[in-house]
Amino acid sequence: MRNIINNAYNTSNANGASTANNAHNGTTNSDFAVSVTGLTKAFGDVNVLQGVDFTITRGEIFALLGSNGAGKTTTINILSTLLKPDAGNVTVCGFDALLHAEKVRENISLTGQFAAVDTMLTGRENVVLIAKLRGIPKSSEVADKLLADFGLTDAANRLVSTYSGGMTRRLDIAMSLVGTPSVIFLDEPTTGLDPEARLEVWRMVKNLANTGTTILLTTQYLDEAEQLADRIAILHAGKIIANGTLQELKKLLPPAKREYIEKQPSLEDIFLAITHNTRSECDERDEQVKHSKEVA
Ligand SMILES: Nc1ncnc2c1ncn2[C@@H]1O[C@H](COP(=O)(O)OP(=O)(O)OP(=O)(O)O)[C@@H](O)[C@H]1O
Ligand SMILES: [Mg+2]
Repeated sequence: MRNIINNAYNTSNANGASTANNAHNGTTNSDFAVSVTGLTKAFGDVNVLQGVDFTITRGEIFALLGSNGAGKTTTINILSTLLKPDAGNVTVCGFDALLHAEKVRENISLTGQFAAVDTMLTGRENVVLIAKLRGIPKSSEVADKLLADFGLTDAANRLVSTYSGGMTRRLDIAMSLVGTPSVIFLDEPTTGLDPEARLEVWRMVKNLANTGTTILLTTQYLDEAEQLADRIAILHAGKIIANGTLQELKKLLPPAKREYIEKQPSLEDIFLAITHNTRSECDERDEQVKHSKEVA
């Protein structure tokens, strides 16, 4: 089930797209890859989303931040049509997520918070399976290319049950790229990855954005949002309480104060100081010897 939705084949970006006016700037919704207005969702007594508004421009990397339980996954699940909202409007690539859920699925992929791969298959079999389910011709070639892109060629024919956590995550993301979707949702894509694998995912995200793919990612790592995101939104108490570029968000706080701190010498400072003093003493001694020889 996850794979059908997660690896939707991009057959159309614009057909049948909604052209309703957007409340923010009068442009059409289809100018935005994602448009969310007045989104609410409750689970029983828990009002998780209480009027969430944001838009994502095509080709943008948008980071959604929030504490545990803030509603990031709930938002992504609604955007990817896995969950119905209680109220509000959600369009993805110009398609209403409720009225044209099928069209939305054709244009997106979702890599969920928890890896969803078949561990009883090899990495290659997983990707080929998705490509076949998506009806993509030359599924083997597509799989080989993706596996190579994610550094999984050597492990391609091994059962996924033997993969490390990072390898499984990379395979998961590779599978979600089958069919080159135009909008990608990545829910905490680097959680549990080692620093190197994390950088690899960052590179992949940047490359995708450079080719015009729109990316919404959630993360608990604030440096990740700083490094990757064109725009950052903070979800808190059911609403977006801040939304802007990193520079814009920095302006929300008072200007940085200049503070003077006593700097402790590093080992390098100590080494250089000692060797320099010793050298000066030696140089001085050499000078004296030279001078006394000249006088004699
Ligand atoms: N199917 C569900 N039934 C009941 N409550 C749910 C359900 N899904 C989510 N919740 C609740 O909604 C709230 C938001 O959950 P959500 O998973 O969206 O948060 P999150 O921001 O993704 O958190 P995390 O950073 O831990 O992944 C939590 O209180 C959670 O318990
Ligand atoms: Mg979550």
